[in-house]
Amino acid sequence: MVNLADPALHASQDLSGFWRKLRRDDPIHRDPGGFWVVTRHADVVAIARDPHTFTSERGNVLASLLSGGDTGSGAMMAVSDGAAHARLRGILGKAFTPKALSVLATQIALSAKTLVAQAAAGETDFAREVSARLPIAVMGSLLGLPSADWGYLASLTEAALAGQDPAGTWRARNEILVYFASTTTDPGVLPALLSRLSEDEILLNCYSLLLGGDQTTRLALTGAVAALACHPAQWQQLRRGAVAQSTAVEEVLRWTTPALHSGRVVTRDRPPFRTGDIVTSWYASANFDEEEFAEPDRFDLGRTPNRHLTFGHGPHFCLGAHLARVEIAAVLEALREHVHTIEVTGAPRRVESNFLSGYTSLPVTLR
Ligand code: HEM
Repeated sequence: MVNLADPALHASQDLSGFWRKLRRDDPIHRDPGGFWVVTRHADVVAIARDPHTFTSERGNVLASLLSGGDTGSGAMMAVSDGAAHARLRGILGKAFTPKALSVLATQIALSAKTLVAQAAAGETDFAREVSARLPIAVMGSLLGLPSADWGYLASLTEAALAGQDPAGTWRARNEILVYFASTTTDPGVLPALLSRLSEDEILLNCYSLLLGGDQTTRLALTGAVAALACHPAQWQQLRRGAVAQSTAVEEVLRWTTPALHSGRVVTRDRPPFRTGDIVTSWYASANFDEEEFAEPDRFDLGRTPNRHLTFGHGPHFCLGAHLARVEIAAVLEALREHVHTIEVTGAPRRVESNFLSGYTSLPVTLR
């Protein structure tokens, strides 16, 4: 039996056949663990568009939903709804527009080139040497945190989201909160916006931005390199400029789907759902739905249209989507500039999580 709540399951098994079968035979599935499992693209979209019926306030991932709620409810953007959510998003969203991020985008392109050029010197672990360094530096700069702390913070986000023991996960999450409670940030656009929030809101949203912005993006970057290594013809097309970088970024996002699911609680009866039910929407399935994507199991860097749900959908659509796209584009560009062939040289290690998906270690040679 498949236990979707088990973190080890997602690291050890290819669930594509399981998802295909659910999409076909039982697309809104009642899991014996006490939650609904939604697998079709159209149903995931419909749920995301209706926050009145499907609220985020009691948590938005399986772990917090099954444990009875989220302590950030109403104060942290991802687990707020209605006016509280609109206010937080209205304030913090100003730091994440393409215009607000344009200077940072130039720095990201430079950092990506430096990191990839260093990694291309021989055999490397792409997850450690590139992916674990770029997104944390980006979030550190945005939040105005001292660069001396970035390595420490990267290890905390890993332990908090991809750690293997629950006590360590809990400790790391607390350590992040304590860090933000005791650190003064440098002046900047995001710190200035954050200062318009209450103390609790600042703490919770800094925590959420750091966690949301680091691990997911790391997994997308490492997953991009793994996919390019497995699909050398696609890689050569990208290198030659035969496919557009913009479509390549979207296909990397669809293919890697770093966030496996989001969850909601039902606020009013909506058959088959009853008030109080937990509903989980699986991007890992919806992004490969044959009703939405032609040949979904083909990695196609030129794919259009590509309405993947990697960043979610509706009012909670990822605040950092543009930023993540900029980072992925920067790494693809750096690879095109510095690398001819990509070869996986050792066994990759997958993250053990029921929420995140991808590689925490990817030994490669970039030539
Ligand atoms: C929301 C995925 C990068 C910050 C979300 C959601 C998903 C997601 C699926 C929707 C959650 C829900 O509906 O409950 C990803 C992926 C990323 C990424 C796959 C990288 C490839 C980032 C970055 C940041 C960020 C770089 C930070 C700057 C947020 C925030 C929200 C969010 C604050 C909550 C938005 C809201 O509730 O209105 N993300 N994310 N994410 N993401 Fe991302």
